[in-house]
Amino acid sequence: MADAVFREIVEALPFPVALVGPDQRLRAANEPAIALFGVNAVGQHFVVSLRNPAIVSGVERVLARGEATEATMRQLQDPREMLWRAVIRPVTTEDGRGALISFEDITAVEETGQMRRDFVANVSHELRTPLTAFRGFVETLRGAARHDAKAQDRFLEIMEREAERMSRLIDDLLSLSRVEQEVRVQPREQADLVAITEQAIALLSGGPGAGRITLDAPSEAVVQGDVRQLQQVVTNLVENALKYGGADGQVRIDIAGPGRDAVLQRMAWRLSVTDEGEGIEEHHIPRLTERFYRVDSHRSREMGGTGLGLAIVKHIVTRHRGRLRIESEPGKGSIFSVFLPVSGREEVSE
Ligand SMILES: Nc1ncnc2c1ncn2[C@@H]1O[C@H](COP(=O)(O)OP(=O)(O)OP(=O)(O)O)[C@@H](O)[C@H]1O
Ligand SMILES: [Mg+2]
Repeated sequence: MADAVFREIVEALPFPVALVGPDQRLRAANEPAIALFGVNAVGQHFVVSLRNPAIVSGVERVLARGEATEATMRQLQDPREMLWRAVIRPVTTEDGRGALISFEDITAVEETGQMRRDFVANVSHELRTPLTAFRGFVETLRGAARHDAKAQDRFLEIMEREAERMSRLIDDLLSLSRVEQEVRVQPREQADLVAITEQAIALLSGGPGAGRITLDAPSEAVVQGDVRQLQQVVTNLVENALKYGGADGQVRIDIAGPGRDAVLQRMAWRLSVTDEGEGIEEHHIPRLTERFYRVDSHRSREMGGTGLGLAIVKHIVTRHRGRLRIESEPGKGSIFSVFLPVSGREEVSE
């Protein structure tokens, strides 16, 4: 193919592509490729721009023997490291065999794989810790504590608590995976946030600290949503506020709106849960909705936490086209606010 045609095709492609001629000089490179190499070295020996050893030897092999090859290349593109797959194929140029290199950005694929591996490692760790304790207790109950009724009671109690935590972990994992599956399915039910919140409070009132919750809300606040999932959102946020809000701190739930939300760019209700706990330092805030992320994992575990509560909240809110905002002042408390678009025909047409 004529070099001019090659050049035109290379320039038209949206991903990085470069052509090395039989003379080992860079014959063409499109803008994405030049951005990737950091230099525009068209006309010079290809190693001026392509320093990656795997790619250099791949190009040499293609030029010498005409065998297509592939190579991966890590590149620090501030602020993150990108991973590229380079495919190097022989092409026939005006004066002989050249090498065409095309680059595919596989950073996201790699990240997804990494996330999956982290996830499995986390789940295994979360399950292994209580199981190890369990095995230790069984041994003690069979041995040292065989005739010690008091110790037996204590151990059995701890075992019961750990078993409950494991079941909760599995329930949370299942509900997370369900929400993830449905994340692109828009919920269709009419859901009243006020009724949902009242119900969540009623369910929690069996537990400790229910008397600390107050609710300030209009008579109703209807959104298009999944009632069960929204109840889970409120329950998780209120549970956290009770858990991390100090032993006798008040927990205030406010439902306000509807008002135009500048971020969502539509009319939305706001549901806020405010506590008087010790608050959260700023650098933790963006990470709280990651699975298994806990500020103080030891303390959270002691309280039976799995670190999945806010990840579930985030997914449910995303499914409802809403957003979650976390504000906190260390020493004073935290406010977790959920913004949910109001239901209504004029809002669906976006
Ligand atoms: N209201 C709050 N005040 C202070 N810290 C909070 C508050 N809510 C959440 N956190 C912090 O965020 C972390 C993650 O919360 P999340 O609800 O996801 O997990 P958890 O409460 O530890 O466990 P789970 O909800 O699964 O029982 C908590 O471990 C805690 O460190
Ligand atoms: Mg929680």
